[in-house]
Amino acid sequence: MCGDGIHYHVVQGDGSRTPNQQQYLDGVRTHRTRPNERPTALPFPHFYRSFRDLPMSKSSDCSPQDSQPINNTASNTAAATRRSFLKTGTAASATVIAGMATVRPIRAAEPENGSAEPIRIGLVGAGGRGGGAINDSLTINQNVKLTAIADVDERKLAGLRDGTAKRHEGKVDVAEHKMHSGIDAYRRILDDPDVDVVLFATPPGFRPQYVAEAVDAGKHVFAEKPTCVDPAGYKICLSAHEQAEKNGTAIVTGTQYRRQTNYIEAIKQLHEGVIGDIIAATMRYCSSGIWFRNRQPEMSDSQYEVFNWMHHIWLSGDQIAEQAVHNIDTMNWIMGGAPESAYGSGGRFTRPEGSEMWDNIEVDYVYPGNRLVSFMCRQIPGTQGDNSNTIYCTEGRCTIKGGNSGASLVDRDGKEIWSMKGDIGAAYKQEHKDLIDSIRNGKPIVELKKTADSSMTAALGRMAAYTGKKVTWDFATNESKLDLFPKDFDINGSRPEPEFAIPGKTKLI
Ligand SMILES: NC(=O)c1ccc[n+]([C@@H]2O[C@H](COP(=O)([O-])OP(=O)(O)OC[C@H]3O[C@@H](n4cnc5c(N)ncnc54)[C@H](O)[C@@H]3O)[C@@H](O)[C@H]2O)c1
Repeated sequence: MCGDGIHYHVVQGDGSRTPNQQQYLDGVRTHRTRPNERPTALPFPHFYRSFRDLPMSKSSDCSPQDSQPINNTASNTAAATRRSFLKTGTAASATVIAGMATVRPIRAAEPENGSAEPIRIGLVGAGGRGGGAINDSLTINQNVKLTAIADVDERKLAGLRDGTAKRHEGKVDVAEHKMHSGIDAYRRILDDPDVDVVLFATPPGFRPQYVAEAVDAGKHVFAEKPTCVDPAGYKICLSAHEQAEKNGTAIVTGTQYRRQTNYIEAIKQLHEGVIGDIIAATMRYCSSGIWFRNRQPEMSDSQYEVFNWMHHIWLSGDQIAEQAVHNIDTMNWIMGGAPESAYGSGGRFTRPEGSEMWDNIEVDYVYPGNRLVSFMCRQIPGTQGDNSNTIYCTEGRCTIKGGNSGASLVDRDGKEIWSMKGDIGAAYKQEHKDLIDSIRNGKPIVELKKTADSSMTAALGRMAAYTGKKVTWDFATNESKLDLFPKDFDINGSRPEPEFAIPGKTKLI
């Protein structure tokens, strides 16, 4: 497994960490077979440029000519990032080392002619959602420009830039030296004075420290969900949220249902008591599967894990965090905050070798007021899909379905008293409009804590299911030492064999 109980190290009270894997290895079944043999060494410049080979910008100019080769190794630098953040509350980007950056003031639209200063966007993570999110932003917003792109895989860069430029004439201006690859590429976006907003669409495991560094660098942020996958990442998010409120950076997150009209209207009526008091609810995110990416011969263990990130818990948080966080966020919204405890179960039957994910996870969440929410997520081929939330109230029932499937309220006799269709496409765009408007209005939205709470609620459920124990919110957020991010992560290095959690044997830490 690599569940809650392995592949991580303990965070001490002072924020330092001690390797402690053996404790968690006890009783955890090891998944010995990897899809391919692991190579011993592997720079493969055409796929991932080595972190070591990357010029790291020291000045604020990101042009390659002015950059210096970095001397430190990938493992040193990547590990230092999270460690130093946890220890000091401050991240370790070049900008931060140089001192706290200020936020560039952006002029609002001129009242006479409506013209506004362009807001420049840098994208980190040029995959499926990165392409979608930048498309949403450029579609809905006027006077915005994509000016820089970073991805660990250099092959992603040109395609995204050129495809986006075709769709959005005049809104893409990314010179060759503004396209960065390698594990350190995000930092070059943070140090780029031609970037006002950074859009993060990497695998979630990187999110907390990247967002924190962006805030410290004075950049506004759009962060895809989930924003963290473990308690250590949650604490980084809380600290980044606080910092953003202080320095005036915006943080909008990719929990688009918060901006979807039928969700907003249904939840407003629930909160107004239209069908009485909320008693209990069910949340379902069940589908027939998810992608699995086969290893390419030249990849290191780390490169392969980042490439096939969904199947590694330190990167995805398992399906409960990576996908079902949408339902969990909706439920926290309905219930007015995070749950008090979680008790759960689950298992795996169909995952390919090399995957650390479970096939299904079920959790009973108890919210304040003894309100029970029964949660289930599943990814098993041939099973019936269901992506919906059902809220049981004293005077009726509310159903809110994912995507465009709509929402409805029925009374106690089952008679429909309200319904509304969904438009998820509009919600995806609205989040980007709200972000840019809030920056222009000088009232930056900072919503990281809310989404971090929901991401942590997902992690709480996973901790309960993986260990077979009831886990309280208080324990998970105040006492847990769980930190899934690999100690001394080296993009070119080896990683422990993938493993998966076994309830009763996987320890709660
Ligand atoms: N809001 C939504 O509905 C929604 C939908 C899909 C995905 N997402 C989220 O978006 C994120 C990305 O998902 P995706 O489907 O685009 O995945 P993807 O695998 O298609 O893309 C991820 C990209 O990030 C790059 N990458 C990996 N590590 C990196 C690093 N450290 N620095 C820079 N680049 C890195 C990869 O090379 C890849 O191009 C995930 O958090 C996912 O949960 C949200």
